[in-house]
Amino acid sequence: MSLWSVLSSPVWGAGSVLLILVLLLRLSVQIWHKFYIWDLQHCSTDLTGKTAVVTGANSGIGKAVSQELARRGARVILACRSRERGQQALAEIQAASKSSRLLLGEVDLSSMASIRCFAQRLLQECPEIHLLVNNAAVCGFPATLTPEGLDLTFATNYTGPFLLTNLLQGALQRAGSARVVNVSSFRQSHGYIDEDHLVGAGRPLAFNQNYDCSKLLLASFTGKLAQRLQGTGVTVNSVDPGVVYTKIMKHFSWSYRILFWLLSFFFKDSKQGAVPVLYLSLAKELDGISGKHFSSSCVITLPPEAAQDPHVAQSLWNTSVRLTNLDKVD
Ligand SMILES: NC(=O)c1ccc[n+]([C@@H]2O[C@H](COP(=O)([O-])OP(=O)(O)OC[C@H]3O[C@@H](n4cnc5c(N)ncnc54)[C@H](OP(=O)(O)O)[C@@H]3O)[C@@H](O)[C@H]2O)c1
Repeated sequence: MSLWSVLSSPVWGAGSVLLILVLLLRLSVQIWHKFYIWDLQHCSTDLTGKTAVVTGANSGIGKAVSQELARRGARVILACRSRERGQQALAEIQAASKSSRLLLGEVDLSSMASIRCFAQRLLQECPEIHLLVNNAAVCGFPATLTPEGLDLTFATNYTGPFLLTNLLQGALQRAGSARVVNVSSFRQSHGYIDEDHLVGAGRPLAFNQNYDCSKLLLASFTGKLAQRLQGTGVTVNSVDPGVVYTKIMKHFSWSYRILFWLLSFFFKDSKQGAVPVLYLSLAKELDGISGKHFSSSCVITLPPEAAQDPHVAQSLWNTSVRLTNLDKVD
């Protein structure tokens, strides 16, 4: 069969059209990202003398965020649960950012004991914290209880950040002006709020809906904390990084992971996924803006209705305080 007859076959024709469509789609994603998302390169914020804490800094978005903060002169505490993975990331970030102001902190955000221990050590080392990025999260886990009786997904994605932020509140306030950035997800709109989920009870959840619900709780927490921190110089906002090709799917079955890999051609990479998070961390125009949710295009959007309800937020706050023993004096 000649080359010409192969090229002129209907299969080849349809394949070519499909390939061109795929490439055009990919190109439009890149153009959209380059021209319509906040331009990191034009942001002049210098972080010399500032201290930033990034959870889940050894991988994906957290690693890319940490690298940019370090490049801008911040002392960055890479809060990671694995010393080995943390050290490897630290070496890579150090080499890429040429920063010597990186510190590794070990913390398992699903464990309240680990968070308390980490916060205590951190506060001794850094009495003032200018930026806290609550980035670490898991998804794809079935309902599992931690040794402390919390649901693993909710503990990592919501209760852990809740406790850590509260324990670091004094240091954030001492900084004079500080930001808390909660890394949320577009999936929050598929969740609902049932406080019993925090302890592995409550209404049944569909596959991976625990992730969606935990991110919704984070949105409710963002609004409530912003209200409580009014006038303190500390702002708190949440942001969706978009769909980003990272290790976030590592706990899913192989079929999901293959699909994620195949589609990754259209997704953002970690550096692109870090841009909305860096926007909330660095942009001068956000000075004083608090309690807002930002889309992956860096635009303020309303969080789902459940996360806007002040009674729900107050009740969730009270339950979280009780579960994390923040109401008990040490
Ligand atoms: N990727 C997306 O498409 C997407 C979309 C929307 C929102 N997000 C959000 O973006 C954030 C970053 O995710 P990513 O995509 O960059 O995923 P990733 O590469 O899997 O990073 C998640 C990070 O969280 C850490 N982590 C998980 N459990 C922890 C625990 N118990 N204690 C301390 N650290 C823990 C992981 O550490 P190990 O390496 O030790 O596991 C890792 O460093 C998450 O909040 C995620 O929900 C991502």
